[in-house]
Amino acid sequence: MDHSNEKNSGGIPNWLLFLFFGAVLIGGLYAIYMHGFLGYDRALALRDARGIEYHVPTAGVYMFAQIPAKSPAAIASGEASYGQVCAACHGPELRGGVGPNLVDAEWLHMDSPTTLAVARRVVHGVSASESVTGGVMPQRGNGQLVDNKIWEVVYFIQSRNPSIADEEQTQ
Ligand code: HEC
Repeated sequence: MDHSNEKNSGGIPNWLLFLFFGAVLIGGLYAIYMHGFLGYDRALALRDARGIEYHVPTAGVYMFAQIPAKSPAAIASGEASYGQVCAACHGPELRGGVGPNLVDAEWLHMDSPTTLAVARRVVHGVSASESVTGGVMPQRGNGQLVDNKIWEVVYFIQSRNPSIADEEQTQ
């Protein structure tokens, strides 16, 4: 009689392999579940309580034609633009005002902050229907900033908030 379907070539019974990979799968799902659960902070609770949709940049989002290289000059230029355009709402030290604090770890409109996500948010602004706190943000700093100026501001914010990761534009 042929028993080849009961053992694989390595001699490990298939039921044991099944248990092993099942345990790995369940462990992975559990880790994802716990990570999401532990990452659930006050701002996210506020966001969800208000029934706001979570905006993750996906296909079809704004593509940047020009993304300047990060350099001390770009950061300095971004600081100047920030002072002219953003400081009124986000505060001269980026600690918030009408708009939220940009140097803490709480983000209302992104999961894990990246340069690309922040840049897209500045292009997009925050409409009344998206707003978590009730305040709105005009698009592109009220239309004052072209793409490379927005990236300079993002580099400046990142220089003050290293939790913002670098992200390449792939779509
Ligand atoms: C008229 C006031 C105003 C101006 C000007 C403004 N913002 Fe905002 N910004 C806001 C408000 C209000 C929100 C959050 C709205 C909400 O409650 O959802 C926001 C949200 C953001 C967010 C998302 C924060 C998060 O927690 O996810 C970023 C990033 C941001 N602004 C960057 C900027 C930058 C950079 C500039 C300048 C180019 C700028 N903003 C100019 C009012 C402003």
